[in-house]
Amino acid sequence: MSTFWSIWISVIVLGTIFGCWWLLMATRKGQTTDTETDRTTGHSFDGIEEYDNPLPKWWFYLFIATCVFSLGYLALYPGLGNFQGLLGWTSTNQWEAEVQQADARYSELYARYGDTPVLDLADNDDAMKMGQRLFATNCSVCHGSAGRGSLGFPNLTDDDWLYGGEPENILSTLHDGRNGNMPAKGVMPSMSNDQVDQVVNYVLSFSDRERDADAAQAGEDVFAQACSSCHGADGKGNQALGAPNLTDNVWLYGSTYDWIRETVVNGRQNQMPAQGDRLSDDKIHILAAYVYSLSN
Ligand code: HEC
Ligand code: HEC
Repeated sequence: MSTFWSIWISVIVLGTIFGCWWLLMATRKGQTTDTETDRTTGHSFDGIEEYDNPLPKWWFYLFIATCVFSLGYLALYPGLGNFQGLLGWTSTNQWEAEVQQADARYSELYARYGDTPVLDLADNDDAMKMGQRLFATNCSVCHGSAGRGSLGFPNLTDDDWLYGGEPENILSTLHDGRNGNMPAKGVMPSMSNDQVDQVVNYVLSFSDRERDADAAQAGEDVFAQACSSCHGADGKGNQALGAPNLTDNVWLYGSTYDWIRETVVNGRQNQMPAQGDRLSDDKIHILAAYVYSLSN
């Protein structure tokens, strides 16, 4: 905040407090005594008059206490423009302290399972309840609350894996993240429109979907040149590259001619964010077991 606005705010805040103080004192002066009297303000409204009694003492001192409290508060906590307050409190460091406390308290719970192999952990009901909650908090935004995925987000409950479904594959996916990168037109950037049409028809033939048989046949060559280095000569994919199996009728994107054409023409970039710098190793361990349990 600029110095001008900082001073502006401070003047308004302090001015209001001192203004209240002044009002309290100024209205008190007119009253000659601290006790109740029969004196009235002198106005008469249709015969109705108003007593001119002082504020009860407790009430008066409550007002004073409010002013004093607010000055003390503004000295200790941020409230006057850029002044940070003597305690140095911020919502961020309060939050961090709370997270640290929670981590210290709960990390023991997670650590209990740290040494259990993922395969055994997947059979442990308590650990899997924990895994389910961790999944709901950290993963369900993308993979869905049941882990079934959606367009562009893989289904984690089937046994079709981009990167492999063994515990060590899943651990490595979670820890370091994954970048799925399908280059536009594979390794044949000069592909003609006809060749695109042919290779798309050829891909459709893998899963026996409706296609143009002649074009599909011509596409075999194109596939061998442009695609097989990643998806394999038989189209069964390559988990080391995250290149999906194109023959199993499980689709990350759509399965129609148009969707596949879109993938071939423009390529696909997809990212599974690394969790290693967000979640502790113990939590990742439990999550890996949970993911494993979804399909086993
Ligand atoms: C921001 C969205 C996002 C979040 C959050 C996310 N993922 Fe992913 N995840 C993806 C995407 C996208 C892919 C596919 C990457 C690709 O196509 O290469 C993926 C891939 C995976 C895979 C690999 C699947 C396979 O077939 O090999 C696993 C396992 C996985 N995620 C588990 C998790 C878990 C567990 C969490 C929670 C800690 C999580 N993901 C959080 C987007 C996300
Ligand atoms: C450099 C490696 C590479 C090459 C070459 C390549 N792909 Fe891919 N392809 C991938 C990867 C990786 C993905 C997954 C992208 C993702 O995770 O979003 C993919 C995804 C796809 C998909 C989507 C599958 C689904 O389940 O929705 C299709 C279809 C596809 N490729 C077809 C082709 C065709 C046809 C060619 C040849 C013209 C080709 N690919 C060349 C790596 C490659």
